[in-house]
Amino acid sequence: MAPMTGTSPEHCTACGLCETRTQVVLPDGPAHGLLAVGEAPGHQEDVTGVGFAGSAGRTLDRVLAEHGLGRDAYARTNIVRCRPPDNRRPRRAEIDACSPWLTDTLRTFTPGVLLAVGHTATKHLLPHWKDNHLGRIRALLAQQPSADALPCYQGVPVVPMPHTSGLSWNQKQPDGTPVSHLGRSAVALAVTLASRSGR
Ligand code: URA
Ligand code: SF4
Repeated sequence: MAPMTGTSPEHCTACGLCETRTQVVLPDGPAHGLLAVGEAPGHQEDVTGVGFAGSAGRTLDRVLAEHGLGRDAYARTNIVRCRPPDNRRPRRAEIDACSPWLTDTLRTFTPGVLLAVGHTATKHLLPHWKDNHLGRIRALLAQQPSADALPCYQGVPVVPMPHTSGLSWNQKQPDGTPVSHLGRSAVALAVTLASRSGR
């Protein structure tokens, strides 16, 4: 079922972000494996129409490649498909308006694992992850959970990771460990579980 009757994905006008976008950034990448779910397209994504095309995307690509998944080997999308003006966070109403598209993406891509990139994406996929994002990621990784033990979004296991934008990626956690180390561990877990998901 199409999420919005009579609307093709690239012409969606279900929220106000349609007024300021250059184009809708559609999901891309292979089905069945790891699907990275980000917050929203930024400037570079809006201009090119390609998800995770800017500097945060290049960081994500690099870390996934370090763990054996080149850009062609994982899929990506965002919780809103149109760029918010001035890169502000997407609003609740915009995320809700776009969420049928995310459901549609899950149906067509049948991912084995969702890699939630950053706190905004994580909070949407896992509403109980409201606060202490990094602390919760640390606690989850300490358990090295199996896919069955992970929290799920619409039945798909979710591995949350810190955002790869320079602002958060280059920071340190309270104990002095770089946030990027936590990110690499989250990616390692997600890649392992995606390879085992066998979908
Ligand atoms: N690029 C995206 O497409 N989404 C993000 O969340 C960050 C960068
Ligand atoms: Fe449609 Fe999503 Fe774009 Fe809003 S952000 S116009 S719901 S595609």
